[in-house]
Amino acid sequence: MLTFSFLVELVFYVVIIFISLYLYFTRNFNHWKNKNVPYFKPLPFVGNVYNGVLMRDSMGEIFSDLYNKTMKPFIGFFILDKPCLLLRDPQLIKRVLISDFQHFYDRNILNNKRDDPISTHMLFFLKNPEWKDIRGKITPVFSSSKIKIMSRLIEDVGQEMVDYLEKNAMLDSTVDMKDVSLRFTVDVIGTAVFGVNAHSFQNANCKFNEIAQKLFNWDDTLTAFRIRCYFLTPMIAKLFRMKFIHPYCANFLKKSFLEIMDRRIASKVSRNDLIDILLQLKTNDKQFMDGDILVAQAVMFFAAGFETTSSTIAFALHELAQHPDIQNKLRQEIDLISGKHDGINYDSLKEMEYLDMCVKEVLRKYPVLPFLDRKTATNYDIPGTDVIIEKDTPVFIPILALHNDPRYFANPEVFNPERFSKTNNNNIEHFVYMPFGEGPRNCIGARFGKLTTKLGLAYILKSFVVEKTCFTEAKIRFNPKGVTLSPFKGMKLKLRKV
Ligand code: HEM
Repeated sequence: MLTFSFLVELVFYVVIIFISLYLYFTRNFNHWKNKNVPYFKPLPFVGNVYNGVLMRDSMGEIFSDLYNKTMKPFIGFFILDKPCLLLRDPQLIKRVLISDFQHFYDRNILNNKRDDPISTHMLFFLKNPEWKDIRGKITPVFSSSKIKIMSRLIEDVGQEMVDYLEKNAMLDSTVDMKDVSLRFTVDVIGTAVFGVNAHSFQNANCKFNEIAQKLFNWDDTLTAFRIRCYFLTPMIAKLFRMKFIHPYCANFLKKSFLEIMDRRIASKVSRNDLIDILLQLKTNDKQFMDGDILVAQAVMFFAAGFETTSSTIAFALHELAQHPDIQNKLRQEIDLISGKHDGINYDSLKEMEYLDMCVKEVLRKYPVLPFLDRKTATNYDIPGTDVIIEKDTPVFIPILALHNDPRYFANPEVFNPERFSKTNNNNIEHFVYMPFGEGPRNCIGARFGKLTTKLGLAYILKSFVVEKTCFTEAKIRFNPKGVTLSPFKGMKLKLRKV
């Protein structure tokens, strides 16, 4: 029976626990004040990322909110109880990413050796000195000559996509172009990285496609929460032994990759894809003999490649559907130049200047990885100030916010590829446009990603006119649980044969 004294005791313990938690979670709240750094007043337990904790805003929007609330060159804020710094000033951003890179070579993201044997070796997660070593060794994988060879494999996938759309798109009044571009990029990575034809256009139940849908399924709250924790609260991810890559996906990708490697070694046939290049590393480099390190790089390319590129293609189609004039101009260029070069291929794409301008503008409005993160490797004096930020402080660079700041891009909400014309390009301030990051730790797959995006778009636009539907909203809603920028509820558009 509940006696009065028992209830009093219970209330007493609840109050004590609450006060202890309150004191624990607010113990750092004077951190920035003591350092004389301007900062946003935090709330107990959530810090300044209230909407982030509740997954009401995508991560890009969380950092944009903070960016837009101040004009200071840098500002302190809190993720739960952790003091973090948000950078706004392009000169300071340059220092962090390039000039003072020796103080900022690691990302804040968790590297979870104990619980996640795959992601721990992935380039994105690696800490120094391992990162430097592996980055140096796999950089040649993305050289221009290798990408040119791989582009032939991507062309075949482009044609498969057009065949699929010709058969299917005309039957339905609308097509989810996010789904189509996802299948396209899954097949591209399948053929160029894993050396297999995934055939996700022909086979609705394609396993690679299923894995891709699962890896970054932002509609699944658990997946979104796990990945958010890796980026924002590494301590929580570590405490609860979370894995970045879902074990079901990791096992499938690992098994496929090892099987493909074995078959390739047995057949001795070269396909000029990444498997060939990774095999060379395995033979010539002792470090890569550890299967997990090699597998991790293949999984990395798969994970980093398909979501970023497919979302970029989907965002581009959304804008082109809203701007038929830009779409027509682009199609004319694609027709003219592909006519001269025997089709859409590496050489013709290189000549398509307007396509390049359009893709740059898409990546301005929609940088799929909408923020960069780094962590101080040592105490760091912010130049020109008397502020010293301590070792291990997370530092965030809000790319989405910079790309949409009217001080750098007039009328940022307007889709205007002319910003990137030869004459206007030079007027863009440095370190305010960074869709692939900057400095030694920038995106290693940038060239590959751009090629895939351009090739996919060129194939679609050469055969189809893309139009908006009654579902198309002028302003895209991002998936609020997303870590990358991803259109909420797909990208429904109408296609008409040219
Ligand atoms: C449109 C497509 C893509 C975009 C917008 C994009 C964007 C980015 C960004 C912003 C970063 C962080 C850079 C930094 O911290 O400074 C990054 C890192 C990375 N990206 Fe990409 N990416 C794309 C495609 C790809 C592709 C296709 C691959 C591989 C096949 C790839 C592999 C990587 C890897 C491995 C890293 C980590 C690099 C390191 O830590 O050394 N990305 N990407």
